[in-house]
Amino acid sequence: MTTAPDLTAVTAGSADDTAAEQAAFDALIDAEQRIEPRDWMPEGYRKTLIRQISQHAHSEIIGMQPEGTWITRAPSLKRKAILLAKVQDEAGHGLYLYSAAQTLGITRDEMTQQLIDGRAKYSSIFNYPTPTWADMGAIGWLVDGAAICNQVPLCRASYGPYGRAMVRICKEESFHQRQGFEILLTLMQGTAAQRAMAQDSVDRWYWPSLMMFGPPDESSPNSAQSMAWKIKRFSNDELRQRFIGMLVPQAEILGVTLPDPELRWDEAAQRWHTSEIDWTEFHEVLAGRGPMNAARLQHRRAAHEDGAWVREAAVAYARRQAEKTERAVA
Ligand SMILES: [Fe+2]
Ligand SMILES: [Fe+2]
Repeated sequence: MTTAPDLTAVTAGSADDTAAEQAAFDALIDAEQRIEPRDWMPEGYRKTLIRQISQHAHSEIIGMQPEGTWITRAPSLKRKAILLAKVQDEAGHGLYLYSAAQTLGITRDEMTQQLIDGRAKYSSIFNYPTPTWADMGAIGWLVDGAAICNQVPLCRASYGPYGRAMVRICKEESFHQRQGFEILLTLMQGTAAQRAMAQDSVDRWYWPSLMMFGPPDESSPNSAQSMAWKIKRFSNDELRQRFIGMLVPQAEILGVTLPDPELRWDEAAQRWHTSEIDWTEFHEVLAGRGPMNAARLQHRRAAHEDGAWVREAAVAYARRQAEKTERAVA
């Protein structure tokens, strides 16, 4: 007869192990080293990263839709080729990010299911419509511009696979921003109607792009922990300020007006003074009541269903290949 294991000893031992693992994790974070998939990590860190990286991946994929509708309507072959490449880049960003999230123990299927069931969030900016060609300019300039401000510090995120994915993504995002700027510049050098179309588009996208940085610091409960874990490096408001500082001189070159009569540099406070952001709108869109929320999800769901035969064929092909290899070995 075997004796029952001493459970108290086992428990005490694993508590010690956890404390040692936590200490090793903290030391890596303190030393600005990277946490890799094989490393021990606190559950909260893992969950936070899964949520953030998968939301980021979903945003890239849903973000293909507002611009995708303009591929067939782009005003020239050159514009079409550029827009097509840009939208393909966003698909690539989504794929790198899904792969980074998979290293944390969630599957691609689970993430896709969460998105198409409406359980996962993605950036609210993609729930706005794109009625004019100038929106391709404003999205590149403002939306990709805000994405760069948000994402450049993420290249130093403490989780290795995320930080490394962001390096490549940021290189492509800066091209995206330039192509948007160039579309707006061309329109602003065109006819009165083209200039009006560019200004109207900037008027519609400016405030939602400022909201991309998330709620003000005092109402952003998760930020402090993410900063301590060195996933996030700057606060929402710091990043928003940096973005405005980047836009102001560029707006001047373009000849567009940023739609905020209160916008000015406050020398005493060393920050940009702006009008109050309409956070009610932000929360409405976040809650699924934006102009395009239902259409975006419906489109994504339909694309997933239409693609079922491709996934089935890929699985069948992989099975056949495995069987062939098995027969060859036998
Ligand atoms: Fe992207
Ligand atoms: Fe982009």
